[in-house]
Amino acid sequence: MAEDLLKKIIAHAKEYGFVFPSSEIYDGLGAVYDYGQNGVELKNNIKQYWWKSMVQMHENIVGLDSAIFMHPKIWKASGHVDAFNDPLIDNKDSKKRYRADVLIEDHIAKIEGKINKEVNKASKRFGESFDKQQFIQTNGRVLGYQEKIDKINEQFKSALENDDLAGIKNLIEELEIACPISGSRNWTDVRQFNLMFSTELGSVSDDSNKIYLRPETAQGIFVNYINVQKTGRMKIPFGIAQIGKAFRNEIVARQFVFRMREFEQMEMQFFVKPGTQKQWYDTWKERRLKWHQALGFGSEAYRFHDHLKPAHYADAACDIEFDFPMGFKELEGIHSRTDFDLSKHEEFSGKKLQFFDPEENKNYVPYVVETSIGLDRTFLAVLGKSYQEETLEDGSQRVVLKIPPFLSPIKAAILPLVKKDGLPDIARKIMDDLKFDFNCFYEEKDAIGKRYRRQDAIGTPFCITVDHDTTSDNTVTLRFRDSMEQERVSIDSLVQRIKKETSMTEALKKVESNTAQALV
Ligand code: GAP
Repeated sequence: MAEDLLKKIIAHAKEYGFVFPSSEIYDGLGAVYDYGQNGVELKNNIKQYWWKSMVQMHENIVGLDSAIFMHPKIWKASGHVDAFNDPLIDNKDSKKRYRADVLIEDHIAKIEGKINKEVNKASKRFGESFDKQQFIQTNGRVLGYQEKIDKINEQFKSALENDDLAGIKNLIEELEIACPISGSRNWTDVRQFNLMFSTELGSVSDDSNKIYLRPETAQGIFVNYINVQKTGRMKIPFGIAQIGKAFRNEIVARQFVFRMREFEQMEMQFFVKPGTQKQWYDTWKERRLKWHQALGFGSEAYRFHDHLKPAHYADAACDIEFDFPMGFKELEGIHSRTDFDLSKHEEFSGKKLQFFDPEENKNYVPYVVETSIGLDRTFLAVLGKSYQEETLEDGSQRVVLKIPPFLSPIKAAILPLVKKDGLPDIARKIMDDLKFDFNCFYEEKDAIGKRYRRQDAIGTPFCITVDHDTTSDNTVTLRFRDSMEQERVSIDSLVQRIKKETSMTEALKKVESNTAQALV
């Protein structure tokens, strides 16, 4: 069922110009995708929503656009050369390679699926009086499944913490996990595999010229910490935000734009006084969750997941997980990165990366709380929740993308009812007036119903239809995507009306409201 929905979304995204497989005429390139004419608009709008809420709305957060290529020592200092690894395991029969941790997580997900089945069955049996919490805490079968999950997690955590690759393999064998392709349990040992892509700088290919494509945008922020702090006269606490490409040689690259080899991150490093990181970590968890919730997909679509073993640079870390078409998965990471990165860059570069705190009258290396969200995953989250199939009153079907209007690729489609009687001229004039404020679309081909459906399928919140009455009373039909209701409005009111309904302001205000702590 979930798989079906993802398949439908992938097909829809291609058919309607959102996402194409990269290099398709050459049969594609694994886990690399191109964004089409509608996809790039949606992506740009998501970026804008993030940038406004992080940079424009915080006096003490500024932006940055650092280069993808950086000095190779940066990746030695950050720990990525030595520790940015995935534990891999091969099946000797199918010759397929898997991430060992993903095999275990998938096994846990299957047990979770059994719990959900029990819950659904009981919910049907007990009807309205069903108390889910109580059922989960008392039902023997559910408790048994949960005990299994806890035991696997415990063993898995201990193996990860001790870098015990043999222990991970043992766990895979103990759980009798089989290769999905060959069905066999004939596994190699688990090995570590570095995820960074490398290339050479200049014309000579020897090891001294080896550079990496950045696997995260964050390091570009750390190495510019002093530049921004000094030139911006920034005082702690302050943040630096950046949107940009990152590259990882993912082995289990699957699930569409969820896990790609080339993707975009939206990251913000918040530099704080040592000892205050826990408080800022909590603040950013709350703020980021609000940013997501303001999209209107319902708070049940999100949950926090604390890391069993935070990455090598963090003293606390969690994910905001989202209910994607394929289930709950990581959408954003929030990490308390301590002074790890700045201290390492001090050590490797020999340059001081400190802040003079006038209140404390001393220098220190700031601590960092990071928020890191995948742009492509946010894109998939929006598509996943917006995609709806509806049966209409007349029995016909429509597919509609109920994208929050401020994110929609096209805000209004302008449609003359017929191609004659001067209607296209009026429609063109409306298009010329609106195009300064909104991304609009003009179309005169096909019956009006067909044109409405095409706009529904790409999530256009408004269709403006010019008909014969327009020639006499200067009014048009404004059709609403979600309700399909129609209203007669004057042409002069269109800009204000569409502005109001597609503005990002309301969502941004929701992010601000009721936040426990001010940022300055
Ligand atoms: N600077 C910290 C960092 O990079 P991460 O958890 O590895 O942390 C942050 O990545 C976010 O980047 C993830 O939550 C996810 O949304 C996105 N991301 C990571 N790998 C990705 C991939 N292969 N494809 C798409 N998005 C990815």
